[in-house]
Amino acid sequence: MTGRAGASHAAGGTPDPPRAPAELADAARQFFRARHGGPAAVVWTAPGRVNLIGEHTDYNGGLVLPLALPHRTAVAAAPRDDGLVVLHSAARGAAPVTVPLTAVRPGTPDGWAAYPAGVLAELRTIGAEFLGVSLAVVSDVPAGAGLSSSAALEVAAAGALADLAGIDADARTLAEIGRLAEHRYAGVPCGVMDQLAVACCRADHALLLDTDDGSLDHIPLDPGAAGTALLVVDTRVRHRLADGAYARRRAGCEEAARLLGAPDLRRLEERGGTAESLSADLPDALRPLVRHVMTENARVRRTARLLRSGSVRGIGPLLTAGHASLRDDFAVSCPEVDVVVAAAVAAGALGARMTGGGFGGSVVVLVETAAVPVVTEAVLAAARRSGQPEPRVFPATPAAGAARAPG
Ligand code: GLA
Repeated sequence: MTGRAGASHAAGGTPDPPRAPAELADAARQFFRARHGGPAAVVWTAPGRVNLIGEHTDYNGGLVLPLALPHRTAVAAAPRDDGLVVLHSAARGAAPVTVPLTAVRPGTPDGWAAYPAGVLAELRTIGAEFLGVSLAVVSDVPAGAGLSSSAALEVAAAGALADLAGIDADARTLAEIGRLAEHRYAGVPCGVMDQLAVACCRADHALLLDTDDGSLDHIPLDPGAAGTALLVVDTRVRHRLADGAYARRRAGCEEAARLLGAPDLRRLEERGGTAESLSADLPDALRPLVRHVMTENARVRRTARLLRSGSVRGIGPLLTAGHASLRDDFAVSCPEVDVVVAAAVAAGALGARMTGGGFGGSVVVLVETAAVPVVTEAVLAAARRSGQPEPRVFPATPAAGAARAPG
């Protein structure tokens, strides 16, 4: 869906750094002109995200702590008056799509174009009026890697299309439009984390989001200043069962809350007691889900406390414990991801865990700066030994959320 044709991130190893926002916006303007034969009226860019900790908590009223990646998606757009939506993407294999405005509905168009078209349809439900739209997408966010390339596309499209319609939408509104498009047009029952992270993150900060009351707290995070680095390891593996399994985990959590008479698993905390005691009467299959969600919320709180007190290194064991919980209790990891986590920790990483929905995708690794080459090599060697694709390894410097490109 996204990704620049021929870019080195298409292969494994250590890819070139992503383009700066202004450079990416220029590339989108040029691509727009080449495909649509005239200038774009507006360009928005939005980042991918990596979740530091707080996994599968965002649809349980829980806590998450993501940060925005320097990898961004740019959406260039201009109005048309012929009733058509014409969509181009620079991603390899992404065919151009033309669809009448009145024909846009869940399933039409499908594929990559469902995301921006879904956003357009959702904006219309809040009063945005269009006579037609030309749109062009250029992206450096690795697709299918659990790094929210779809949320980046949705939120950048929401910003650009809201501008075209003259709607003054704040970051939360853009995120909500993106989330609704994901649910209704991409058919993924995701929580609120990805689009909010993409829309609201700040450079040099992680975003503590409480999905119970919607509060956002920007926590300073400068891994480099602490003598550490955050690495993203994209395993380049994604198992097909991911979406169905996500929906089943979500349904399992909701069923557990219902059986316990709580609105969601977060509210169980108010009763006091441990996950074990609170979930003792649940069916065997549901108890580990409750244990993961409750212990994960506790890990997010401790991670946030440590970061606020300036202890970046101290969060390492929490990341690794979070991985064990996702692997053993929530059962959303997979062998290829476990190989990477184990290799990173064995090579001296301070902590490592899967990030995102699971069943492949990416691992986030916290490592001493001096140990980056050793840990990177260990991860690549372990993947080679187990015959899995060569991972892509790159640093995650906390970047800024979605914005209109100047000019
Ligand atoms: C996906 C979803 C998010 C969240 C994570 C798991 O990324 O889109 O809403 O549930 O999985 O933490």
